[in-house]
Amino acid sequence: MTSSILVTGGLGFIGSHVVVELLIRGSDVVVLDNLSNSNESILDGVQKITGKTPLLYIGDIRDPAILKLIFKRHDIQSVLHFAGLKAVGEGEEKPLLYFDNNVKGSIMLFDEMIKANVRRVIFSSSATVYGEAISVKYNENMLLKPINVYGKTKLMVEEVLREMKRAYPQLGIAILRYFNPVGAHPSGFIGENSNGTPNNLMPYIADVASGKKEKLFIFGDDFATPDGTGVRDYIHVKDLALGHIAALNKLETNFDMITVNLGTGKPYSVLDIVCAFEEASGKKIPYEIVPRRQGDLAEYYADPSLAEKMLQWKTSFDIKAMCEDTWNWQKYKIKA
Ligand code: NAD
Ligand code: WQD
Repeated sequence: MTSSILVTGGLGFIGSHVVVELLIRGSDVVVLDNLSNSNESILDGVQKITGKTPLLYIGDIRDPAILKLIFKRHDIQSVLHFAGLKAVGEGEEKPLLYFDNNVKGSIMLFDEMIKANVRRVIFSSSATVYGEAISVKYNENMLLKPINVYGKTKLMVEEVLREMKRAYPQLGIAILRYFNPVGAHPSGFIGENSNGTPNNLMPYIADVASGKKEKLFIFGDDFATPDGTGVRDYIHVKDLALGHIAALNKLETNFDMITVNLGTGKPYSVLDIVCAFEEASGKKIPYEIVPRRQGDLAEYYADPSLAEKMLQWKTSFDIKAMCEDTWNWQKYKIKA
């Protein structure tokens, strides 16, 4: 049996970009996704980019039967675990759903993984695990104190993985804490394809630029930041995907435990992003300043130096490319 890599949530925004890089690398890829925030059409884009299609199982990580079937049929050596719910506001309204899907689902997956002797796992964590910190430049040694349900689910899964490494030292584990993933594949064939209205800034701006939404609502211009709007670390999804390949390469040579930030280390405000998107698209982005969104922090960005050192990985796409690629994908989506 050829060895394969299981990608949970592989039809989603980040997972699909990682699937592309895995296929380009020559890996045999199996995807498990329940389509709760994606659809199968993304595989057409994956095929256009790579000339290949991963094997797809439509199902849920909380279903032991499908997990057992996958681990029996395929020699899975590594699991890249993206399946999860990610809307911060929804997590506050439906905490049980978020703990069930993200925490219980991960434990069920890890349980079957251990039974099947899978040797490596990479987990999608988030900068949200830090919460409000003493410094705006977040490093991995800072206190972990998430301020919302979504962030708590990520921290709980991190803790589960740390205990797993203690109990099963032979496992290779990478916990990757993403900052603000944006953009789309430079080919324009895949990108963010969420069901429903976008919660995040970049896809919302893309909807305004294409006329799907009338204007952007900027959540507050009275933060203690240079222009008063919120400041974040936006990372191109292709750079992020390559960070996963770097982590996988590392785990394949050394069954380690790696916990790193994946960000650029470069802060941009909401207004910076609006200007960059207007330039990239040639469209005006009308906006209105509205009160702050509950729970939003003024400013934070990554200290990416540990990931750069441990994974020999560095981001290469700038904010202009992030906006151009988002816009290309938006135009492609509308035509398709
Ligand atoms: P996404 O919603 O686009 O992708 C998640 C995929 O997982 C979707 O295709 C969805 O259908 C699937 N899924 C969800 N629950 C599932 C379940 N129980 N069983 C099987 N499939 C399931 O999200 P994304 O932006 O690609 O995020 C991927 C991962 O990265 C998530 O775990 C998310 O929490 C994490 N993350 C995302 C961001 C971000 O801003 N996008 C930042 C930090 C961390
Ligand atoms: C960015 C900035 C908003 C929308 C969230 C999660 C985080 C991670 C990434 C998963 C902020 C402002 C936004 C809008 C606005 N996800 N904004 N109008 O909140 O930094 O991070 O996504 O792990 O966990 O919390 O990202 O894109 O929502 O917001 O003014 O319509 O844009 O206030 O300053 P955020 P975002």
